[in-house]
Amino acid sequence: MDIILLGPPGAGKGTQAARLQQTRGMVQLSTGDMLRAAVAKGSPVGLKAKAVMAAGELVSDAIVSALIGEHLDEAANGAIFDGYPRTQHQAEALEVLLADRDRKLEHVIELAVDEEALVERITGRFSCAQCGASYHDRFHRPAADGTCDVCGAHEFKRRPDDNEATVRTRMAEYRAKTAPILPFYEEKGLVRRVDGMADVDSVAKAIDVILGG
Ligand code: AP5
Ligand code: MG
Repeated sequence: MDIILLGPPGAGKGTQAARLQQTRGMVQLSTGDMLRAAVAKGSPVGLKAKAVMAAGELVSDAIVSALIGEHLDEAANGAIFDGYPRTQHQAEALEVLLADRDRKLEHVIELAVDEEALVERITGRFSCAQCGASYHDRFHRPAADGTCDVCGAHEFKRRPDDNEATVRTRMAEYRAKTAPILPFYEEKGLVRRVDGMADVDSVAKAIDVILGG
């Protein structure tokens, strides 16, 4: 089963994708994570993407669709597209990538959220430097301060684009370029809306109901 998690920055796409990966054996395909890995490596894609991401703008459609094409076969049991597609062009590219493999989208799950609350979610976010587990200064601190619940590591990191000014640009990009792809999926009858303002467990349950037992 291939699904998209759609929502603005901080809506909880990564949080929910990680849970689905654990519980259902699906594979999270996050273009944001792929781009951050490319930046960290200093690869040609990373060099192109670094400043664009730091500004909160969108990386080119060609780059991100190529990244998805490279990784799609790793998700043979089902992909969770997290942060992709983000433009009409990317939505059309994904149709082709899936059709070439006799696959098609089952659900587009929209995490409906209040943008103002998201600024707080994002600016408080941090993650384990070792395993990537996600935390929040107010909503989800590690059980023992300074120790990752998942792997026990003691180092944490924050994303360079998680400051308020960049978050505002990322949200404006979402409104201008990503939200307008919803009608494309609505016409196909694929959009399911979930209240993304509920707590993490409730959002996970609502997604489970959509995906079925
Ligand atoms: P990307 O990495 O995709 O970032 P984003 O879309 O801005 O979304 P985030 O990762 O910030 O939020 P999320 O929805 O995953 O929320 P999370 O679960 O972490 O993209 C980054 C950049 O890369 C883009 O700006 C662009 O430059 C580039 N890029 C990536 N893909 C691209 C594409 N396809 N095309 C072009 N450019 C692209 O949750 C946030 C916080 O809230 C966490 O701390 C979490 O613990 C907490 N939280 C989660 N759910 C809840 C809840 N229900 N209640 C309370 N707290 C919660
Ligand atoms: Mg994310």
